[in-house]
Amino acid sequence: MKKVALIIVGIVIAIAVVFPVINLVVGLPKGIVLGSHTGGPEGYVAAAQALGQKCGNCHTAQGNLPFYASLPLASSLVKGDIQKGTEWLDMVAAFAKAPAEPVCEAALAKIEKTILDGSMPPHRYLAMHWDGALTSDEKQAVLSWIHQVRAAHYASPASSDNLKTAVIQPVPQPPKLDAKKVALGNRLYHDTRLSKDNSISCASCHDLKKGGCDLEPVSTGVGGAKGGINAPTVFNAAFHIAQFWDGRAADLAAQAAGPPANPIEMASSWPEIVQKLSADATFKAEFEASYPGGLTQENICDAIATYEKTLLTPNSDFDKFLLGNESALGDVAKKGHALFVKHDCATCHAGIAMGGRSFEKMGRTADYFADRGKLTDADTGRAGVTKNDADKHKFKVPTLRNVALTAPYFHDASAKTLAEAVQTMGKYQSGTSFSPLETAQLVSFLESLTGELDGKKLQ
Ligand code: HEC
Ligand code: HEC
Ligand code: HEC
Repeated sequence: MKKVALIIVGIVIAIAVVFPVINLVVGLPKGIVLGSHTGGPEGYVAAAQALGQKCGNCHTAQGNLPFYASLPLASSLVKGDIQKGTEWLDMVAAFAKAPAEPVCEAALAKIEKTILDGSMPPHRYLAMHWDGALTSDEKQAVLSWIHQVRAAHYASPASSDNLKTAVIQPVPQPPKLDAKKVALGNRLYHDTRLSKDNSISCASCHDLKKGGCDLEPVSTGVGGAKGGINAPTVFNAAFHIAQFWDGRAADLAAQAAGPPANPIEMASSWPEIVQKLSADATFKAEFEASYPGGLTQENICDAIATYEKTLLTPNSDFDKFLLGNESALGDVAKKGHALFVKHDCATCHAGIAMGGRSFEKMGRTADYFADRGKLTDADTGRAGVTKNDADKHKFKVPTLRNVALTAPYFHDASAKTLAEAVQTMGKYQSGTSFSPLETAQLVSFLESLTGELDGKKLQ
């Protein structure tokens, strides 16, 4: 008995001391090159080098494995870490075009968060690699680089200088675009002639009086056809990296080309629409005054997209709070805000729209789809576009702006209330279970995200 105990103690000591000491002598495995190591803002090169050396190997499928990764026990631990680490944040992908193109807002938010809360590298890894943590100089370089990128690329025009480096940015006033094109886009957006039987316009499914969507689990198209996925809001969609849940349209103009010709939406075709609109002499003349190329699919989509770019909703209570008005948020909402930051919500719901900046897996900390049951085509998500299995069940993170007005929630409309949506997010994205009090605080915070359209609070 005693002998066995001694052997166990011996093994424990070996693991606790001998391996780390060997690791210390051998040094960390060679790092990964993240992005290009030239140019970029202050701190960029130092940040890319430090993250590549100390974090990269666990955050890419192409990492350099340490010598012991081929040993039986270590191998499964190491591979598990790499798989999960890469699933949560693929650093090589995030830096692919850096510094020529900025690293995405969600990746910046995630890296910042783990540096501030000291959760990375994982503690079990640090127990084996005493020199594995970022030094304070390295942390400083990374944080300074993140702030520079935000201020240069992601800051809202509404932000004061000290707010420009924050993860969530206030919604700005709508930009001043060509007023004639905006007016044409507005009319087209509400024009039922874009549908086969003149029954449906964009506004039928994206009603500005219904939070920019239709408040139904799935939309109804021409002839009562039902869609397979929840309609998102058009408000603030201009801030998204791409359009649709799976991001298959690169921008608003590309998106607008879809519904008119979609058999379960407007069920028309572009030649038919152009023909119908051209028969309207006044409209045709007005349109040609703005678009020398005349009434074409491309120009119609451009006009609609120009109008949509003006559908911004500034002046929410939370934005007033961000801009310095402490009393704009009540105590309950302030507690909800603190929970929102503490439980990583802001790492995915980042930027001006508080979402729309990255594709994330639904079910990061628990298997959402196994719990919900039976898969549909709509559940495939981003993988349907990229054909990459790693993107299965990833969706464009929805905006949380005006979210109190846009029930039901999620691509599958599985949550009827905001409280339900918050609890689902806690369980499947943040790995926590919120008490009824915490849920109410988070809901109160989300309610403070309702903004104004044309100077009037949205209802
Ligand atoms: C030993 C492998 C390993 C190393 C080294 C490592 N990570 Fe991770 N990382 C993981 C794993 C595994 C996860 C998944 C979450 C978890 O298990 O805690 C993760 C998750 C993350 C996330 C996502 C967290 C979130 O809330 O979205 C970020 C960001 C991150 N790591 C950044 C870093 C940074 C920065 C470093 C270097 C300072 C680093 N990691 C070093 C394995 C590693
Ligand atoms: C029959 C209902 C219906 C009609 C009509 C309709 N949409 Fe949609 N819209 C949807 C649905 C459902 C989605 C989500 C589809 C998906 O992601 O696969 C969507 C997505 C969008 C998005 C993407 C938002 C985001 O966050 O990704 C925008 C923008 C949009 N529609 C604008 C329009 C415009 C402009 C028109 C008119 C040209 C229009 N829609 C017509 C139902 C409709
Ligand atoms: C890892 C990224 C990630 C994190 C962390 C995260 N979310 Fe989400 N959130 C998403 C994605 C992706 C969806 C869409 C999922 C779907 O429709 O299947 C979503 C959807 C939502 C929705 C529904 C919006 C709508 O219009 O349908 C709410 C509300 C929400 N999240 C709130 C939160 C809160 C609160 C937290 C923190 C407890 C949080 N999220 C954390 C990625 C994330």
